[in-house]
Amino acid sequence: MTDTFPDTAPDSLAHFPMPRTSPFDPPPQYQPMRESGRAVRVRLAWGGTTWLLTRSVDIRRMLNDARFSSNRLRPSFPFLVSAPLTGPRTFKPSIINMDPPEHGTVRHQVAGEYSLRRLEQMRPRIQEIVNERFDALLAGPNPADLVATVALPVPSLVICGQLGVPYADHEFFQARSLALLRRQTALSQRQRAVDELQDYLYELITAKARHPEDDLLSWQVSRQRESGTVDVAGLASLAVLLLVAGHETTSNMIGLSTLFLLANPHLHAELADTPTAISGAVEELLRYLSVAEVATARVAVEDVEIAGVLIRAGEGVIGLCHAGNRDPAAFTNPDAFDIHRARGRQHLAFGFGPHQCIGQNLARLELHVYLTTLLRRVPHLRLAAAIEDLRFKHDAAVFGPYELPVTW
Ligand code: HEM
Repeated sequence: MTDTFPDTAPDSLAHFPMPRTSPFDPPPQYQPMRESGRAVRVRLAWGGTTWLLTRSVDIRRMLNDARFSSNRLRPSFPFLVSAPLTGPRTFKPSIINMDPPEHGTVRHQVAGEYSLRRLEQMRPRIQEIVNERFDALLAGPNPADLVATVALPVPSLVICGQLGVPYADHEFFQARSLALLRRQTALSQRQRAVDELQDYLYELITAKARHPEDDLLSWQVSRQRESGTVDVAGLASLAVLLLVAGHETTSNMIGLSTLFLLANPHLHAELADTPTAISGAVEELLRYLSVAEVATARVAVEDVEIAGVLIRAGEGVIGLCHAGNRDPAAFTNPDAFDIHRARGRQHLAFGFGPHQCIGQNLARLELHVYLTTLLRRVPHLRLAAAIEDLRFKHDAAVFGPYELPVTW
């Protein structure tokens, strides 16, 4: 198994990823790239190169163009974490790795579980989970780590409840999810993490096939059974994706959003006075912080002219959502944080086009319930460490704080 593709790129290319210099803002290199109006070719940390798109219009065009593939098994896919998993027990492709027409068919089978009507049914349980986590925070030691007590458990409990995964196993799946998302995790460890998650969910789904329960994975088994055969391995891959994407992203958004509010007390006060502004704040936090900005990677399957360059078939491209979300052509005064922004939902934090995040309305709901409860229950929350001393996930595919020491 090789970790690199043939690499003839000139040494002068900038290295990617570039680190954020402020936890809230995109790396400073993005602005001149965007102003140039052209795609930029960069060298990837593990070897190989990729193109970067930084203008909102180009990112949207690329993500909506079937000549760019999401299939991570294609050579030259621009991985930020070592090389693709290619071992014999490899993760079976799930929707995030599929192209049309298969992608649309498989996505359709699960999309209904994330409809607004379904999510409204989940709201009371989400509120209960958030209440319980704040009870635990307030009853425990002061100061405390908000990531460990609230930001990580809330989305983990929500996605476990929805899928029918026992929360008692959270340490098992959280550790493996983080290993998958961290760039320095060795290929063999990533392979083991994904195999273990896949095996765990395969067994769980097999048990649900025998004794169905009232949860998403049992419903998926029943639907498949009605139409003929049950693809347990395919469902296990879907479950791995939903479990990992469903807790790590939202957890980082909760952690980083809280830090942003604590670093901007005027905003904290404005939201406490006008709870109706929370929906606008959720949207603006998603745009401004763009925690999953590199999730939108593709590989060209034909030559395509875009952003002033010719991207050749077989070359990788990443639509940098954080750059697009700060594009002045898409947002007036883009570096200002404005919860009353017109067209505030037109951001790229959840991607764009056919692969746009399936869990986006669940994430919005969790963030809304979390922020409303935070402002009501702990209005005087403060940071218990200097912001410069916090550790951030510069080394992971989803950005956020590792810990958030708070006091009240
Ligand atoms: C704030 C939280 C979240 C952020 C920022 C986020 C971000 C994203 C982004 C940028 C994509 C597009 C990937 C691409 O274009 O290839 C995506 C796709 C996806 N997300 Fe999320 N996500 C979040 C929460 C969730 C949650 C809660 C779930 C699960 C319930 C979820 C499940 C998925 C799935 C299954 C896909 C793949 C969809 C497809 O390929 O058709 N995400 N997400």
